[in-house]
Amino acid sequence: MKKRIGWLLGLVTILIAGLTFQVQSVYADDSLAQVKQKGEIVMGTSPDYPPYEFEATENGKTKIVGMDVEIAKQIAKDLGVKLVIKKMSFDSLLTGLQTGKVDMVISGMNPTPARRKNVSFSDVYYQGGYSILVNKTDSWRYKDKNSFEGKTVGAQTGTTQYVESQKQIKDVKVKGMTSAADLVLALQSHKVNGVAMEKPTAEAYVANNKSLVAVPSHFDLSSSATSSAIAFPKGDNTLVAAANKSIAKIKKANLIKKEYLPAAGKYMKTNTVNTSMWHYWKAFAIGVEYTLIITVCSVFFGFIIGVILALLRRLRGNWFKDLIRWLATAYVEFIRGTPMMVQVMFVYFGLGVLVNIPALLSGIIAISLNSGAYVAEYIRGGINSVDPGQTEAARSLGLSSAKTMRYVVLPQAVKNIWPSLGNEFITLIKDSSIVSIIGVTELIYQSNIVRSDTYRGVAPIFVIMVIYFILTFTASRILNHFEKGMQHD
Ligand code: ARG
Repeated sequence: MKKRIGWLLGLVTILIAGLTFQVQSVYADDSLAQVKQKGEIVMGTSPDYPPYEFEATENGKTKIVGMDVEIAKQIAKDLGVKLVIKKMSFDSLLTGLQTGKVDMVISGMNPTPARRKNVSFSDVYYQGGYSILVNKTDSWRYKDKNSFEGKTVGAQTGTTQYVESQKQIKDVKVKGMTSAADLVLALQSHKVNGVAMEKPTAEAYVANNKSLVAVPSHFDLSSSATSSAIAFPKGDNTLVAAANKSIAKIKKANLIKKEYLPAAGKYMKTNTVNTSMWHYWKAFAIGVEYTLIITVCSVFFGFIIGVILALLRRLRGNWFKDLIRWLATAYVEFIRGTPMMVQVMFVYFGLGVLVNIPALLSGIIAISLNSGAYVAEYIRGGINSVDPGQTEAARSLGLSSAKTMRYVVLPQAVKNIWPSLGNEFITLIKDSSIVSIIGVTELIYQSNIVRSDTYRGVAPIFVIMVIYFILTFTASRILNHFEKGMQHD
């Protein structure tokens, strides 16, 4: 038995190692030709950083705007392809680039030597510099970075500001968050004393919010840390060269100062929108739609996977059946032993290296695979709970063992475990929120959009809490109804 477990563990390890191993093929660089052939270029960005990129509402529709978007538009135009913008958190942009989710990253990103090891950068298109954003009421206390000794400074995770704050401020506590907009909320609710960010961004937040001021950081910075450039997958030289041409054109005509920044400024002004939650009902409706799509699909496929796994775990007899049974058992143990969040990221980013699965589908696959493992255990318990006399009777009436399982045992098993299955469904309504990390527009994701759009931290949280409750409560009523129906037969 011990030996077999050892084998099994070995097998699982090899499988995982094989999948995660990055297939780095050596090929001639045809990145430019590929983009042209696709007819579109995908830009990854974290739109929480005005005037570089941010979300603005126009005629009730949210869209991503800013100077980085204008630059991307110019590049797409020069290449003769469509521009597609993919929103991600800043700290997953480079992963997205390396796993082929996006063709380029334009996100106010500094071309630091550390990043250059993994990606290729275009020429610099803008010079920024760092500031620290503080509350106006505290502004007398803070002159520059040195005033933050022993204080808490917020910085976006994965950014140079995060690293430099930690390095250059004595005894500081750096609080990292994935969204710059959330950091500003944290500042306003005094969870942090200041937020380190690019100077133009700090000024943009100040322009939009009278209670904030920007103080100079006086960080000691190399020139690469104060400039912005476009990141491409390492070795995409033809694409980089094409982008450099567009950047040269933009710089020559001084378009950033003359057109892009003023346009961004205009969006920021019109962005002081109606912040009532009713105004955003559409955003929440989309969230509900996606949450339900993910949940219903995952419950459906999870159930099928669960039944299959449960049956496989009953196989016994020859070595082949034993092997299958052990594999099924290993699968269940493995899924139950790893967090769903990691599984979602593994399907999206990890398997994404081999096949490009869209975010929504990745989410459904990951959650179905996860749910299948749990459902398998319920069903196994359900099957065991059916009196063996039932099987004996069915078999002696001449039913084959497959038919006995299908017509006699499984229906009774499902009836017995109905409450557990219902629980699983309700749990999934809530747990499907995990897929917001890969950018699926379900409820949590949508509430984050509303939050960054309105700068209201609490109201959207309250709204989705109520929505989740309505969803789960309705679901449990419906399930109860069916449970009663089953008891009559
Ligand atoms: N310039 C900093 C960096 O490269 C922060 C950029 C943050 N950008 C954003 N879109 N949130 O690390």
